[in-house]
This record gives sequence, structure tokens and C-alpha cells, in this order.
Amino acid sequence: MNALHFGSIVAFASATAALVGCGNPVVDVKVAALGGEVLGVEPSEFHRPGQPCLECHGVYGGASPQMSIAGTIFAAPIDKLPTPVEHVNIVITDAFGNKNGKGPTETPPERKTNCVGNFFFTRDEFDPGFPLEAKIECPTKPGSVDTTGRYMSSRISREGSCGGCHQGARDQGSPGWIYCVEDPTLSPFKPPGTECPGVPR
Ligand code: HEC
Ligand code: HEC
Repeated sequence: MNALHFGSIVAFASATAALVGCGNPVVDVKVAALGGEVLGVEPSEFHRPGQPCLECHGVYGGASPQMSIAGTIFAAPIDKLPTPVEHVNIVITDAFGNKNGKGPTETPPERKTNCVGNFFFTRDEFDPGFPLEAKIECPTKPGSVDTTGRYMSSRISREGSCGGCHQGARDQGSPGWIYCVEDPTLSPFKPPGTECPGVPR
């Protein structure tokens, strides 16, 4: 066993300790259902793409840092493990017109997805008033500065995890993964390589 794997087992053991018995049985059950860490991926901004981050990083989850909004952006709406998209800019507008934690008249700071498509705001950075408006700005192809905007037309009334609603394939019960390109055959995005810390070596 190499050092990396050993490190991740230690990290997972402490992660479990931090989460057991957070005092809210509903959260405990939901967290258990998400399963353990992927071997070779540290608990970090690169772990658990697509999962509802706030089950653990929310007020009752106990995982640090505490987050207010978090999620993952994928290339196309397929049900199997989809390709994440890096450098997608997220713009969240809260009930008071604050954007990404800045006031209505200030320029919102960029908040970009990482190589597994994850992004988050800590509660210290942005403690938003619900409901929220969500917009994503996808690069038109990897590395491009040109973007395509996609808007969620309804408002998010209280769930801070995008993955709390956006999961799996799109069907009548679910909006499916959040994606950049409608037609998977037209997606220019490739899965990340092992240089991405979210990909096990
Ligand atoms: C099943 C619970 C769980 C879920 C779901 C989860 N995390 Fe974590 N996360 C943890 C734990 C545990 C740690 C280790 C820190 C701790 O023990 O408080 C951690 C650590 C982190 C860290 C901190 C790394 C550091 O060096 O300080 C970040 C950032 C993070 N997770 C991001 C995310 C994002 C983004 C998502 C959703 C895509 C997510 N997490 C989903 C449990 C979770
Ligand atoms: C409470 C459930 C829920 C949560 C939480 C949620 N969404 Fe949505 N989202 C939906 C539904 C339902 C739709 C489809 C109808 C619509 O656009 O309002 C949607 C649509 C979208 C779309 C448009 C998809 C398309 O077809 O172009 C984007 C982009 C989006 N959401 C982004 C986000 C982001 C980013 C987050 C997290 C900050 C988020 N959503 C959180 C339910 C949710």
C-alpha cells in the first residue's frame, strides 16, 4: 500500500468520527446513504462530485468548512457518471439582490468550478437570504473565455445543495444533473485526468 492510500484511509477514519452522531437522525441517515470516501481522493474540494454537499457541510452536518451553497456542474445530462466541467462561473443572487456574497451594486466575484466540477461558498463568504436565483456561465469549450449562460427559471426556496435536487438523469421527478451542453454528442468536454486531485490514481 502506498503513502497516498494510507493517507486517505486515515483521513476517512477522522472524517467518519467527525460525522457520527451529529444529533440529527434525519441528517445521519442521509449522510450514511452517501457512502464513504473514494479511495485515493482526500476529503477536500475535489471529493464527492454531484453529492448534496450541505448534508455534511451544512449547519447540522458537522463537516468543516460550513457551506451555504455548493454543487457540481457537468457536461451533459446523462445518467451514468457524467463528465464534470471546470471553470464554469456560478452566479447566485439572493433575496436581497446580493450576488456571490457582494452587495447588489458591487461587482460579484467570480466563483468557478474546479476540475471535478465542484464549487462552494462558505457561510462566512456568503450567508444568503432565500430564495435564490442561480445562473451558470459555461465555457463554450475547454479553456475558452467565451461562455454560454444557463439560468434556473424557478427560485431555490431553501436548499443550499444543488445536488439536493439535481441528481442523475432528467425525468419527471428530477431536473437531473446541472449541465452545460444539452446534447451529449456535441459536448467538447473530456473527463479529467489523474492530475486532478478528484481522480483516484
Ligand atoms: C458525506 C459527507 C460529505 C459530503 C456529502 C461532502 N463532504 Fe466535503 N468533507 C467532508 C468531511 C468529513 C471533510 C473533512 C473535514 C472535516 O472532517 O470536518 C470534508 C472536507 C471538505 C473540504 C475541506 C478540505 C480542507 O482541506 O479543509 C472541502 C472544501 C469540501 N469537503 C468540499 C465538499 C464539496 C464541494 C462537496 C459536495 C460536492 C462535499 N464536500 C461533500 C464530508 C463531506
Ligand atoms: C429545490 C430544488 C433545486 C435546487 C436546490 C436547485 N435546483 Fe436548479 N433546477 C431545479 C428545477 C426543478 C429545474 C428545472 C426548472 C427550472 O429551470 O426552474 C432547475 C433548473 C436549473 C438550471 C437550468 C437547466 C437547464 O435546463 O438549462 C440550472 C442552470 C440550474 N437549475 C442550476 C442550479 C444551481 C447552480 C443550483 C445550486 C446553487 C441549483 N440549480 C439548485 C431545481 C433545483
